[in-house]
Amino acid sequence: MRKKIVAGNWKMNLDYQEGISLFSEVVNMVKDEVRGEQDIVVCSPFIHLYGISALAKDANNVSTGAQNIHQEESGAFTGEISAKQIRSVGANYVILGHSERRAYFGETNELLAKKVDIAIKYQLTPIFCIGETKEERESGEFFSVIKEQLTQGVFHLEADDFENIVIAYEPVWAIGTGLTASPEQAQEVHAYIRKVIGEQYNTTLADEISILYGGSCNPKNAPDLFSQADIDGGLIGGASLKSRDFTDIVKVFN
Ligand code: 13P
Repeated sequence: MRKKIVAGNWKMNLDYQEGISLFSEVVNMVKDEVRGEQDIVVCSPFIHLYGISALAKDANNVSTGAQNIHQEESGAFTGEISAKQIRSVGANYVILGHSERRAYFGETNELLAKKVDIAIKYQLTPIFCIGETKEERESGEFFSVIKEQLTQGVFHLEADDFENIVIAYEPVWAIGTGLTASPEQAQEVHAYIRKVIGEQYNTTLADEISILYGGSCNPKNAPDLFSQADIDGGLIGGASLKSRDFTDIVKVFN
């Protein structure tokens, strides 16, 4: 079902105590100020997940997620973490295919397709990230990049599985740069994503999927971005580390 979602990606920030404090602040602000039906997700480092998932039990509409999982069920993969382990602490989401993982950890669409499968198997909703680099935007090939990421990353799924995934469009050139895609630029790509999904599956399914925008999203630019027809919310990096900013972004859907 298509939902409004604001998801925070803390990336590799905050020690344990800082993370618990920030999450508690967000939960309290949300309780006092959020009036809409929007879903709120916080994707923290692994160390916080057990603690914040316990706090999330008493919080309306707030869920937790990881930022990565391993593609195998279990076994001799020192330093890795499985979908089952993440699910067992009460998290519901996992970010997959973030451009930082693609760029710095060599994650390919082929590998990501396996991660998507294991996430769905263990009832974790993948927030599957796609997006073009600055060069790909400037050369005009961004539509084909987006299509390839979708085709190789998620188009092996059955139509039914699409109820359990969220897509995030994150232009790489907008991440952490303060350079946001304009609402028109973002809308153009979101509409394209929906069109490609409609062609691969059907238009009902394409209409039902939630597609988030990510890349230098803040309380100031979120209202214009989120008012676009095909933008269902945001994946928020830097601004998710400040309870006031994150909650203000969530409140765009009040
Ligand atoms: P910023 O909001 O810091 O640009 O990060 C976006 C992002 O990468 C979210 O996953």
